[in-house]
Amino acid sequence: MSEAIRGSASNDARSVTHRRPTIVRTIADLRAKVARFRADGETVALVPTMGALHDGHLSLVEEASRRATRVVVSIFVNPTQFAPHEDFQTYPRTEAADVAKLSDFATDVVFAPSALEMYPLGNATRIEVAGPANGLETDFRPHFFGGVATIVGKLLIACAPDVAIFGEKDYQQLAVVRRMATDLGLPVTIVGGTTVREADGLAMSSRNAYLSAEERAVAPRLAVEMNRVAAVARARGDVAAACAAAADALLAAGFRQIDYVTVRNATTLAAPSGEAGEPLRVLMAAWLGKTRLIDNAGV
Ligand code: PAF
Repeated sequence: MSEAIRGSASNDARSVTHRRPTIVRTIADLRAKVARFRADGETVALVPTMGALHDGHLSLVEEASRRATRVVVSIFVNPTQFAPHEDFQTYPRTEAADVAKLSDFATDVVFAPSALEMYPLGNATRIEVAGPANGLETDFRPHFFGGVATIVGKLLIACAPDVAIFGEKDYQQLAVVRRMATDLGLPVTIVGGTTVREADGLAMSSRNAYLSAEERAVAPRLAVEMNRVAAVARARGDVAAACAAAADALLAAGFRQIDYVTVRNATTLAAPSGEAGEPLRVLMAAWLGKTRLIDNAGV
């Protein structure tokens, strides 16, 4: 067990753990750390992040500490999941503040490698997932899931955790990671963490920081419309009409462009089969000024 006092699931982890995690920069050092944990009979949970941590990430860390005795948080802004025109250069890099936040949580190790550590010179290997990676985000960000699957695969191989936690906020990403872990036979349990929302319903995201004050006031409308579509889908109403009405309402509220508003099979992300009892998920992505927001909800 860690040197710090760990809270039980019912405790608020903020109030029980105050300890700086060890920062590790190389895969070899991460493996050595994890090997020592294993030698002590401990279990390991990994929370992969790109940093700029907010309460949504911290809730994933809390979930990790409920599921394993040791917690590793990775902080790596992964270049391969950004297209050249996207915000890789400007993506917030706040390692010192992130580590300070994690000190209030049950984090044992922060793995913060360089790009060269994760992508050695001459690297030529990429993991591509089809199935749940098809459509939705891929229609607008075709490079994205190849980059995510590649870095998550590398992180899972480097850390070899018992469990890895990913936010449901990026629901398609979670489905893609699950598929990849199953297909590659990785000995890890993939867990989805519930989306954490601001008081007005906006899903927490590092990119919310890009919103102007005016846009921030409009942004919660995404969740309002999402919940309307979910209610129609739950009642097995006219989902296509509900999605179209949601898109119109968002445009009228000030959103610039709607990439998708749709209801899919919650596991495969394929179009619903219509079978009774099929698990469904509402997924949406829309632009507010220069910021692209995504959200999703269970039906
Ligand atoms: O969700 C994220 O922050 C990233 O896509 C992830 C999973 C850390 C991979 O870079």
